[in-house]
Amino acid sequence: MSAALPRHVAIVMDGNGRWARARGGLRADGHRAGVTPVRMVIEECVRHEIGALTLFAFSSENWGRPRDEVMSLMSLFVESLEAEIEELHRRGVRVRFIGERAELDARLRASMASSEQVTAANTRLLLQIALSYGGRSDIVGAARRLAEHVEQRRLAASQIDEPTFAAALALGGIVDPDLFIRTGGEQRISNFLLWNLAYTELYFTDRLWPDFDVAAFEAALQHYAARQRRFGLSAEQVQAVDGGLV
Ligand code: FPP
Repeated sequence: MSAALPRHVAIVMDGNGRWARARGGLRADGHRAGVTPVRMVIEECVRHEIGALTLFAFSSENWGRPRDEVMSLMSLFVESLEAEIEELHRRGVRVRFIGERAELDARLRASMASSEQVTAANTRLLLQIALSYGGRSDIVGAARRLAEHVEQRRLAASQIDEPTFAAALALGGIVDPDLFIRTGGEQRISNFLLWNLAYTELYFTDRLWPDFDVAAFEAALQHYAARQRRFGLSAEQVQAVDGGLV
């Protein structure tokens, strides 16, 4: 159970605003600079054959930011998607979005839908981008969908167990993140993937997102590789599993 590489990495990309302010720029400049490390982590995940990467690009709470910042972020998402999708497809990346789409503007929704469609059959890396996403609302949505199934008598309440519930969440049945990374110095989950992070290894770094480079990502992977994951078992049990005794 000691792990070499994570199968799924989830990242909170924090620190863009501070990075820009420190250079006398606008917060939007920081978000723009944040596209470079996004490209880098995608490339590194492909290179390491990490199967899934989930990025927190915009939270349900981020709608409360100044209108200018929200608008510039939305334009950046459309622009980046349109500029990068061909290359992502060429690299075998499957793109998927999670979050409340209804709140996003029509052009962005159209780019998201076409990116998902074009890359649907790719299998090298599953790239999930959380846009207008909140972990609590994800859980409430899953509960509501299951309750509707029960109401429609397509499911018995007694059939609701952890796998059924997990399948109704935004990430569906895919493997939970093994490694969570948050840049920018805060040590919080901030309403990201609340259910799916139950046993995830948490890694926090002071590095601001635009400064997150290959070496910083490698340091996170090394931290993960050095961890012993216990999944609620005792250290002795885990050693026995690792040593092939169980
Ligand atoms: C948090 O930093 C970052 C965001 C709310 C936006 C993240 C967006 C990107 C990295 C742009 C590129 C993304 C894609 C998917 C193309 P912050 O603004 O809260 O920073 P602060 O804590 O320093 O204020």
